[in-house]
Amino acid sequence: MAAEGARGLSQTQKVFTFKDEEESVTVTIPEVLDPEFGMYVWPCAVVLAQFVWKRRGALRNRTVLEIGAGVSLPGVLAARLGSRVFLSDSAQLHSLQNCVQSCRANGLEVREVRSEVTAGTKATVGSEVGILPLSWGHMTPALLSLPPVDVILGSDVFYSPQDFESVLVTVAMLFRKNPLAQFWTTYQVRSSDWSIELLQSLSLAVCCLLSSDWSIELLLSRWRMSCELVPLRSFDADRPELAGSRLPGNHSVQMMLVAPDNRRRSLQR
Ligand SMILES: C[S@@+](CC[C@H](N)C(=O)[O-])C[C@H]1O[C@@H](n2cnc3c(N)ncnc32)[C@H](O)[C@@H]1O
Repeated sequence: MAAEGARGLSQTQKVFTFKDEEESVTVTIPEVLDPEFGMYVWPCAVVLAQFVWKRRGALRNRTVLEIGAGVSLPGVLAARLGSRVFLSDSAQLHSLQNCVQSCRANGLEVREVRSEVTAGTKATVGSEVGILPLSWGHMTPALLSLPPVDVILGSDVFYSPQDFESVLVTVAMLFRKNPLAQFWTTYQVRSSDWSIELLQSLSLAVCCLLSSDWSIELLLSRWRMSCELVPLRSFDADRPELAGSRLPGNHSVQMMLVAPDNRRRSLQR
């Protein structure tokens, strides 16, 4: 049932259950019915969360930063699974409040990250989540003060071509400080003439040539990064229903791993 939130907007909750034969984790995400971005769980978030779930062994006790987190399903799941998590979103929008609400709905304590927080930060793995403003393309004291990061998560952060380079500038800054880090990102192909089957059968380079908007590969090369597309079927995400949610539906979502260019070995461990 919908309830009234702090800004007088109506709130609902979405529940996601990730499970296999050994383990199951349920994450509850409050959503605010508001025309602004970041108030809902986007289809990309469920796919990225499924990847996090499948890689949970590698993420345990690792430091994870989610950018453009919005209601933060992948980051909250990572925290529930034992990662030390930092959630970030633009300081200009109301999205940081969404990050906080999602943590609280899942019994996670939150801590505002300020510039004095250093590598010796007190954050306890899996129980306290750092929240920081991080606008793409901007270097801020909070960003500089983050401890070493192993994985950067970004769900549906490539939706507006004019922001693509700013997203990658932020990732490049993080890679400079964390040369062994990876960027795990999902994006939604919003053009109606692109079927997921077609995309899965094409390399990213060919996709870039097909779309004038989709210039991300050129940008990756400019910022000295390489990427690999991860087939959805390799992490059981090639389904319209994931984690008990029909949100992926028939949206064309793609999963990509990005790393600094000097890392020649396969990104898929
Ligand atoms: C399409 S929503 C995706 C939200 C969430 N990651 C998900 O998949 O459910 C895009 C997110 O990017 C954030 N965002 C937009 N512009 C931004 C910027 N310049 N810097 C940082 N975050 C930004 C929005 O606040 C929003 O949370």
